[in-house]
Amino acid sequence: MKTVKDYIRTIADFPHEGIMFRDVTTLFADPRGFRMAIDQLLHPYAGARIDKVVGLEARGFILGGAIAHQLTVGFVPIRKKGKLPGATISQAYKLEYGEAVMEIHDDALKPGEKVLIVDDLLATGGTCEAGIKLVQRLGAEVVGCTFIVDLPELGGRRLLERQGVPVNVLCEFD
Ligand code: PRP
Ligand code: ADE
Repeated sequence: MKTVKDYIRTIADFPHEGIMFRDVTTLFADPRGFRMAIDQLLHPYAGARIDKVVGLEARGFILGGAIAHQLTVGFVPIRKKGKLPGATISQAYKLEYGEAVMEIHDDALKPGEKVLIVDDLLATGGTCEAGIKLVQRLGAEVVGCTFIVDLPELGGRRLLERQGVPVNVLCEFD
């Protein structure tokens, strides 16, 4: 039987030379693969209190929307700078290849709400670390961060776990 990892395609030298891009669009496009991924992402949180799912742009929106629907909770987007229409708070971060700023609406979460952060892939952890900071700056609590792919060589998991945030991943690529 195929695993979640089997559905992920690798594209060499995208978006820059030397990057092996782990492309989850092939997983999303397959009905069995997509359902398997959502079921497995949800599994560790059975019975846990989660008030909101926060998705990181862009592929975290696809996964986070499906997970929020399954949990019957609201979905909140964290977006790249300049995309959200309302008042926002911002957080700068470094990427495996570049720098960026993430934003969340300043009224998107209530103090004390328990949040699950969702994205497709954990590399250096910079994107998710920015997401954690944004959630915490609004007074909410990150109960977990969940990803389809971890790139362990880049150390993202250790970075997030050092901050006391539990991390769940479905598969790893070297
Ligand atoms: C990718 C991926 C994560 C992030 C992980 O997004 O979807 O969000 O990189 O990298 P990090 O752990 O080193 O921060 P990307 O920045 O390519 O943006 P996109 O989803 O808008 O294409
Ligand atoms: N984001 C950061 N590094 C990546 C990679 N190698 N594949 C897909 N998305 C990424």
